[in-house]
Amino acid sequence: MTLLARPQQADDVAEILITSEQIAAKVRELGARIAVDYQGKDLVLVSILKGALPFLADLMRATQIPLALDFLEVSSYGAGTESTGAVRILKDLANPIEGRHVLVVEDILDTGHTLSYVFDHLRAQRPESVHLCVLLDKPARRVIPIGIDYRGFEIPDKFVVGYGLDYAERYRNLPFVGVLKPEVYARGS
Ligand code: IMP
Ligand code: MG
Repeated sequence: MTLLARPQQADDVAEILITSEQIAAKVRELGARIAVDYQGKDLVLVSILKGALPFLADLMRATQIPLALDFLEVSSYGAGTESTGAVRILKDLANPIEGRHVLVVEDILDTGHTLSYVFDHLRAQRPESVHLCVLLDKPARRVIPIGIDYRGFEIPDKFVVGYGLDYAERYRNLPFVGVLKPEVYARGS
């Protein structure tokens, strides 16, 4: 069908920053490290919806030790590309984490507002440990310092989409991480 010949989402991408092959190799490496570090421990991967979903799905399968999953949903951004610093919990954990080893799995660390809030929220529940695994680190934008235990890629100060990351809830299903063409923002969502 010629009508399906042009994938419209990919047409909106100006530049691919990280290919799906690069992501897959990095995820395997991170999973192997996590499996060694958490061997024999009561590990809970706490992921932040919705952006971290593809990363979590791949990372957990690269981490071949017993583990549990739990989820938080927070709002920080609204529909635009700038953080407001106001973070709210939309969905809380389903199970207690007291005495357990928590590894937060997140798509991107930008200003640090979101993760700083999430870490305070988690530590208040007295887990044995809380560490952080992020796929993307944008250090140029950091406002609140956050230690990263497992880092996928450092990226420049550009707004990126794909592999879970959205612009106005779109582009999460792109298999790579890329930068949108400027006209996409100009036309709104
Ligand atoms: P922070 O609170 O500024 O660190 O932002 C964290 C959240 O903002 C992430 O979980 C993303 O949802 C979103 N975010 C930050 N930078 C980007 C980006 O470049 N593309 C898409 N979402 C982003
Ligand atoms: Mg996110």
